[in-house]
Amino acid sequence: MDDVGRRQYSIILVTCFLFVNTLSNVYGGITSTFVRSEFPATDIPLDHEVFAVPPGYNAPQQVHITQGDYDGKAVIISWITPDEPGSSEVQYGKSNKNYEFTALGTAPTKYTFYQYKSGYIHHCLLSNLEYYYKIGSGDVAREFWFETPPELNPDTPYVFGIIGDLGQTYNSLSTLEHYMESKAKAVLFLGDLSYADRYASSYEYDQIGLRWDTWGRFVEPSTAYQPWIWNTGNHEVDFLPQLGEMTTFKNYLNRYTTPYKACNSSDPLWYSIRRASAHIIVLSSYSPYVKYTPQYIWLKQELKNVDREKTPWLIVLMHIPFYNSNSAHFMEGEGMRSTFESWFVDYKVDVVFAGHVHAYERSNRISNIKFNVSNGYPYPVPDESAPLYITVGDGGNQEGLAGPFLDPQPEYSAFREMSYGHSTLEIFNRTHALYHWNRNDNGKKLPTDAFVLHNQYWASKQMRKEKKHYLRSVAAGLGVY
Ligand SMILES: *[C@@H]1O[C@H](CO)[C@@H](O)[C@H](O)[C@H]1NC(C)=O
Ligand SMILES: *[C@@H]1O[C@H](CO)[C@@H](O)[C@H](O)[C@H]1NC(C)=O
Ligand SMILES: *[C@@H]1O[C@H](CO)[C@@H](O)[C@H](O)[C@H]1NC(C)=O
Ligand SMILES: [Fe+2]
Repeated sequence: MDDVGRRQYSIILVTCFLFVNTLSNVYGGITSTFVRSEFPATDIPLDHEVFAVPPGYNAPQQVHITQGDYDGKAVIISWITPDEPGSSEVQYGKSNKNYEFTALGTAPTKYTFYQYKSGYIHHCLLSNLEYYYKIGSGDVAREFWFETPPELNPDTPYVFGIIGDLGQTYNSLSTLEHYMESKAKAVLFLGDLSYADRYASSYEYDQIGLRWDTWGRFVEPSTAYQPWIWNTGNHEVDFLPQLGEMTTFKNYLNRYTTPYKACNSSDPLWYSIRRASAHIIVLSSYSPYVKYTPQYIWLKQELKNVDREKTPWLIVLMHIPFYNSNSAHFMEGEGMRSTFESWFVDYKVDVVFAGHVHAYERSNRISNIKFNVSNGYPYPVPDESAPLYITVGDGGNQEGLAGPFLDPQPEYSAFREMSYGHSTLEIFNRTHALYHWNRNDNGKKLPTDAFVLHNQYWASKQMRKEKKHYLRSVAAGLGVY
């Protein structure tokens, strides 16, 4: 067994028989030696079956669903009809083939991007959740289903998948297939969806729109059946003045919707949802965030809205990581870190997931919030109230792996590996969750970084209680009581 293998084995033993208390005792600056023999980092050819267009004239394609409200009682269903607007209706019901209800979507929209013309894009909100749904009519109608999430409750078990920087290569396909083997019920997506904008530098300009379409069909086997909680990255910005395209996020915003109004956000690019026992905050790395901007004002309020007694798990998603020890994108997150990090510590955020860097990395619990330009405190220090920062930018896109890692490994970095994969967060109850990062091990899925995550809110409450208890017994021993 190699080092990583041995470590992996011992971690599984530890997590099975005694729950790991503090991660920092178990992990200390591991740089995995695993070397990925990669599939070529090129996009899957257009005529491959993963991009197959559903048969029949105007058949609905690129079906995807996302949470439609704040608390998970609604779903937004989106799809594209290629030839004509077609029906905007979704038929749905409790059982397959028996669709008792109908919901009407928004009037289909289309847009152009350089010389590309999109199909007709439909979005339909179902606020009365049922399992089965059908879109399109006649022989090109297509049927899908999804699971209604459990009611908000602090002890509801729930499994999230975490995927970032996916793209549409054979590596992306292996990440998607591995993810779909997991028990996860919803994806927390970390930005950089299709990488279609890569075609802006190869003079294949109309492929930008086409590759957004192929990506929509590529992920449909998952996105039609469970919500993907969307977030954007630099590859969604699509600011291409050389093509006359100056409206940012145009491809993304036409195709993907988020329930941002339900949480009083003013923009679909940042928002939050609550699902099962988790409060999930999505931040936009490529929108203004400094003091007095809408995102700053919204986040400040939204953190106050978090009720840890109801949703104990507080998770933040963003594209650019705050803590990264890869030479790729090094320090790009410093602006947002200096603005928001102290809030994350104050509110005891459990985990911050980011993408952007095409590798895997997990931090220790550290913070760097004392620095005030002149006081000489520029370093991250261990901080029990700080979140874990985990970078899962390793979906497997066209740009390939990022590296090299900085050497020596900085103290803030607990584990890092230059390969592809995805994560799962299996929440058991208000206090415990099991986290896995699953490596794409040359075609096989291999859980590689695994640990029990203790909820930050409940852990600190427990600690306060124990301290009080201890002080009381000391006091009692001294006869003061
Ligand atoms: C949004 O704002 C309205 C009006 O102030 C308020 O009633 C509602 O509770 C807010 N919702 C959230 C999720 O903050
Ligand atoms: C910066 O920190 C130093 C040392 O703690 C303190 O003396 C000084 O007043 C601080 N400056 C500002 C502007 O907060
Ligand atoms: C939560 O789940 C863990 C693991 O199954 C268990 O050890 C713990 O006692 C549970 N805590 C609560 C509050 O139910
Ligand atoms: Fe990125």
